[in-house]
Amino acid sequence: MKKKFVIAGNWKMFKTAEESRRFVSDLERDLPDVAGIEVVLFAPFTSLAAMKGMSGRIGIGAQNLFYEREGAFTGEISSVMLQGLADWVLIGHSERREIFGETDEMIRKKIPAALAVGLRPLLCVGETLAERDRGETVSKIEGQLAAALAGLEKGDIRRLAIAYEPVWAIGTGRNATPAQAEDVHRFIRGWLAAKLGDASGFPLLYGGSVKPENSGELLAQTDIDGVLVGGASLKVESFSAIINHSRDLLDK
Ligand code: PGA
Repeated sequence: MKKKFVIAGNWKMFKTAEESRRFVSDLERDLPDVAGIEVVLFAPFTSLAAMKGMSGRIGIGAQNLFYEREGAFTGEISSVMLQGLADWVLIGHSERREIFGETDEMIRKKIPAALAVGLRPLLCVGETLAERDRGETVSKIEGQLAAALAGLEKGDIRRLAIAYEPVWAIGTGRNATPAQAEDVHRFIRGWLAAKLGDASGFPLLYGGSVKPENSGELLAQTDIDGVLVGGASLKVESFSAIINHSRDLLDK
């Protein structure tokens, strides 16, 4: 039994502003009225203004930011521009790393940029299938964490949440087994505890083909405090089923 879950949807490049608004009002109707479940929707930039102020119970997140405040960076969005539009921001999603060439160094710079304007970063880490097969899962995750958090004060690290998303499980229908996910989550919590002294309340989310059929078992793992849901967050029905499963696992 747990005290708190974060249930987050990553819409990726789906939903117009109008579709986003409709989703929020439909989801709001289905939301269980319980403290202890934090719901966040990571929406396209173009939906953020439309979603703003629609629900006091659904947090809004952006899917990316650029680390400079302003300048000649065509097509980019800064943290300052997101201020007041989003509560959270995804940083280092594997699609950003793989398709758009984001490096550990870029990801490291994005975190203080987000924190400086009060955005809460959800940092994503995860190994590829080849890395897992070579037995490099832990060293890959450790390398990504160390690179992303380098130079951050303990108090700043405590303002983050982290999502473990094995790249081979994203959009493939093939989720990590609850035991595989728990192994990596336990490692991350231990790594954070060594850095911070205590990481018992630090939100660690699992992502990668999470759906209503597997979310309950994943969320029941000791070190899994939430899920980051891609495909199954696009429909109110499946996303709210996942939220409801988390409610069943909360301390009464
Ligand atoms: P998926 O995506 O649930 O569709 O696998 C998860 C993610 O990319 O965050």
